[in-house]
Amino acid sequence: MASQARTISRAALERFDLRGKSVIITGGGKGIGKVYAREFAHAGARVLAADIDGAGAEAVAAEIVAEGYEAIGMRVDISDAAAVEAMARAAVDAFGTIDVLVNNASLMSVLPRRDWMEIPVEEWDRVMEVNLRGMFLCCRAVAPVMKEKGAGKIVNISSSRVWEGTPLRLHYTTSKAGVVGLTRALARELGDHGINVNAITPGATLSETQVASSSGNYLATRVSGRALQRAQTPDDLVGAVMFLSTAASDFITGQTLNVDGGKAMH
Ligand SMILES: NC(=O)c1ccc[n+]([C@@H]2O[C@H](COP(=O)([O-])OP(=O)(O)OC[C@H]3O[C@@H](n4cnc5c(N)ncnc54)[C@H](O)[C@@H]3O)[C@@H](O)[C@H]2O)c1
Repeated sequence: MASQARTISRAALERFDLRGKSVIITGGGKGIGKVYAREFAHAGARVLAADIDGAGAEAVAAEIVAEGYEAIGMRVDISDAAAVEAMARAAVDAFGTIDVLVNNASLMSVLPRRDWMEIPVEEWDRVMEVNLRGMFLCCRAVAPVMKEKGAGKIVNISSSRVWEGTPLRLHYTTSKAGVVGLTRALARELGDHGINVNAITPGATLSETQVASSSGNYLATRVSGRALQRAQTPDDLVGAVMFLSTAASDFITGQTLNVDGGKAMH
């Protein structure tokens, strides 16, 4: 059969275009956040990787820059309002604006899996402080910049634990359910400003930190029940986060997209 030369529509490609976009990725210093940082940069975005692990964030940015892409890394504790405001200013100073915020940082892999009665109150409070207050502060810091131009994308990272009711990190699961509520209500608060707020719920994912903090047996049990019977890797999440960061998802807001290989059919 003769091959037909067709022109690929520029408009079709632009729907998924991240080139030149200014993107903040919290928790971008390691784990899945590091993969988001690298992949967004490879797609042409200008990336600020923010992490409480400042050395990790700077190393990720240095690797991206060494490959010829654009990134900066900085130490940010997302539970600290002043640090988060400085993060937003740094993105504007470096890239001129903020187009996308990926709220990926959280306390997860550092938390022991244990019976809920054994969770110290201080640990419960710190999880809420980082996973919920931190997300609120990050949204609050970028909103003025996005409002001014009447456009912006906020992608919040929740967890499939919310659909499954996974036990043994009760504070963590509870905080990730809070992320879904925040996403829905904030989508309504920001809709008039052309800002989309969505969330994804990853299934158990073999990030470097998750692997280090989990037994192989535990991770194997997480695969069972998936329609797609294999382990989930950080790469499996990238497409969903990118989709929610581009024009392709302009009429989607307040939604939570489950990315778990078809375990919870939400
Ligand atoms: N790996 C999984 O199985 C899985 C499943 C569902 C959801 N998630 C979510 O995906 C995201 C990434 O997961 P991960 O596996 O890379 O886990 P992780 O624990 O390694 O990632 C957390 C990142 O956030 C950073 N961080 C922690 N506290 C911070 C703070 N106060 N300020 C700034 N940065 C801080 C950490 O240094 C780390 O880089 C998290 O939101 C996690 O809850 C992960």
